[in-house]
Amino acid sequence: MQLLDGKKTSADIRVELAEAVKQRKAQGKKIPHLAAVLVGNDGGSLTYVNAKVKSCEDIGFESTLIRYDDSISEEALLKKINELNEDPNIDGFIVQLPLPKHIDELKITQAISPSKDVDGFHPQNLGNMVLNLPGFLPATPAGILELIKRNGIETSGMHCVVIGRSNIVGSPMSILLARNESPGNCTVTLAHSRTKNLGEICRQADIIIAAIGRPGFVTAEMVKEGAVVIDVGTTRVEDPSRERGWRLCGDVDFENVAPKCSFITPVPGGVGPMTIASLMINTLKAVELKGL
Ligand code: GUN
Repeated sequence: MQLLDGKKTSADIRVELAEAVKQRKAQGKKIPHLAAVLVGNDGGSLTYVNAKVKSCEDIGFESTLIRYDDSISEEALLKKINELNEDPNIDGFIVQLPLPKHIDELKITQAISPSKDVDGFHPQNLGNMVLNLPGFLPATPAGILELIKRNGIETSGMHCVVIGRSNIVGSPMSILLARNESPGNCTVTLAHSRTKNLGEICRQADIIIAAIGRPGFVTAEMVKEGAVVIDVGTTRVEDPSRERGWRLCGDVDFENVAPKCSFITPVPGGVGPMTIASLMINTLKAVELKGL
């Protein structure tokens, strides 16, 4: 069994991006600038957004963190998005999800200019992805592809079972892995909460991507010997043995599944850092596309 080390792979990407920034500086080109909007005080979202800002600092990107109380109105948030769309200094920005219930997430993602939508959540970018046209790929699926590619995992002709059909992970992941390119060329099954005989389907998988947000959902009986298992889950579960009182738990029962795998991602340190790395790749791409 080999660990798919997202921490290490993302660190390699940061080194490459830092080099690109150095070259841009030497050529007098604009330094990429990412802005992140965080609404509310959700601990997980705050950790992720802080990690995104820290990654910008490590690479040499500029970054701006904009925080609002969760009482902010949809209208006020849309106004800020408009400002960011028009600010020539900001090359890309994200609005961290989930948002409070009174704010319509679709309305928010649609308001972000597609050319600054480095999360790849805008319908135009998602449509371009489906048609394999240029655009920004959603950060988590793109990060998983990068992890697969950089660790030399063959996907062509493989049966991949994606568990979870969210707009930001499961659905785009299933489309990207079916593409006629490398990594890709998979036979994809998109499974979800209503799928019957999930265990049986998973046992036929060469690659399992678990993105359902249910801790320990994928058990050893569901996994074929030698499978590649990628765990997108990051649920906080109570753990009194930890000082902070919780630990991060993936969708895979790692302890029992790992011995059967050829490759498996840990949680934390697997997909999470790769999501951030793809956001950084997209931010560099955003400024390059502007020709600045
Ligand atoms: N919430 C969970 N994952 C993501 C992500 O990749 N981007 C944003 N903006 N919010 C998220």
